[in-house]
Amino acid sequence: MPALLTYFVLLLVLILITGVTYFLQRFINSLPPVEANEEKVSVLQGVVYTFMVLTVIYILTTSYFFIAGTPWESHLMEWLNIVVRLMHITFGIAWIGASFYFVFLENALNRTDNIRDELAGNLWAVHGGGFYYLEKYKVAPKEIPRQLHWFKYEAYFTWLTGFSLLFVVYYFNANALLINKNLLDISPLTGILIGVGSFVVAWVIYHFLCRTSIIQKGIWFALLGVIFCTAFAWFYTQVFTGRAAYIHFGAMLGSLMVGNVFFIIIPAQKAMVKAAKQGVPVNAALGKHAGLRSLHNNYFTLPVLFVMVSNHFPTTFSNDYPWAVLVAISLGTAGIKHWLNLREKHVATTWVLPIAVLVLLAVAFVTAPQKTQTGTCQTEVSMQQVNQVVQARCFSCHSPKPTDDVFKVAPNGVMLDTPENIANLKDKIMQRVVITKTMPQNNKTNMTQEERDLIRCWIEQGE
Ligand code: HEC
Repeated sequence: MPALLTYFVLLLVLILITGVTYFLQRFINSLPPVEANEEKVSVLQGVVYTFMVLTVIYILTTSYFFIAGTPWESHLMEWLNIVVRLMHITFGIAWIGASFYFVFLENALNRTDNIRDELAGNLWAVHGGGFYYLEKYKVAPKEIPRQLHWFKYEAYFTWLTGFSLLFVVYYFNANALLINKNLLDISPLTGILIGVGSFVVAWVIYHFLCRTSIIQKGIWFALLGVIFCTAFAWFYTQVFTGRAAYIHFGAMLGSLMVGNVFFIIIPAQKAMVKAAKQGVPVNAALGKHAGLRSLHNNYFTLPVLFVMVSNHFPTTFSNDYPWAVLVAISLGTAGIKHWLNLREKHVATTWVLPIAVLVLLAVAFVTAPQKTQTGTCQTEVSMQQVNQVVQARCFSCHSPKPTDDVFKVAPNGVMLDTPENIANLKDKIMQRVVITKTMPQNNKTNMTQEERDLIRCWIEQGE
């Protein structure tokens, strides 16, 4: 019944959105496209979008109240997760794509052949069956064109959806995914405040460092960056589960990137446009500083992407030194970005790529399972013994009707209720229970090392 009701509310609201949007669009289109109206049109469009966003939030919150405590609740969370994640990835691709493209442009500009005085360089390109010709101005054109494209919403929306995803995945499930009581016993609210607060602290420190003259000295600034990242990586792994620590590290870097766009790059561009429009000299230092921040962002991209992907690979975050792995992978991936940047500038280097690759390979070796962890297996292990352990340690979550206080449906659809199911999932069980020890989650059911050894011996003895 509640489901049916929600459905009707949903339908009604959807019809409402469509209707209102249609009429507003018609109204917008009926306005004559003269300059004075342009602002009004964009305001109206803003109203439409805000309205749509509010409606979606309304739908989701009302559905939540209808289904809280029922199995549909986790279904709703799953779909929220899917939708927000997809949006996050899409905006992220647009943003990082633009970042790569513009740093490439900057690196690849022709700065010498037949360049007009006011230009820094130009570039010919062919793409999608069309030829493109781009020019970069040294500071700003004498007259700012009316149609000037700004790249900013990609960044803002990536951050907003990422922040929402942090809530959907980690903060709404803080007890299960954010906090590891065996590591640090804090309340969900404390955990969330630490997480969100850390982004603000990171920005303040980073911004302060950027205000000093060290920002001009590439190599020293990079060194400071490594220290900064190490400190945060270490801190996160001391307070959160491995996986949450990684995602917070990525979200922290991502927040710096968006902070750069929102607080530095866009305001600088606005000031430059304003100066150019008023005919006063444009402060070139503004553009230079914005350019540096944009370059930092460029170096952050690959580490951030790694972190986002690492979430699906427990070997990365569950080892003895997760913070060191995080730093090493950040260094390795930023190194690869550095090599790419040098290549685009046609600067020959022999050491950057090999070292970056070596650092990454070293991580793969360091995180490999150690033979010494495993004792010898004496007697044959029976399926019954294995089944007993699994029932005791896994069943509270991985069963058709979980009894766990957080998980009301089997996580990832993994059910370990029959010997066949257990046998079918052997490889994954080996990975999660024996090698990475990431199951039972946070060892909530207190599985012992002997039990892990038993599972390993059973898998190693084969059929
Ligand atoms: C407190 C609840 C809980 C307990 C207890 C638990 N798990 Fe899990 N398990 C999860 C959650 C949540 C996930 C999904 C997130 C993840 O992959 O970390 C998961 C994922 C898995 C996966 C990965 C499935 C995939 O699609 O990759 C395997 C395998 C697994 N668990 C096995 C086990 C085994 C074996 C045990 C017992 C030794 C166990 N789990 C105990 C919560 C639990």
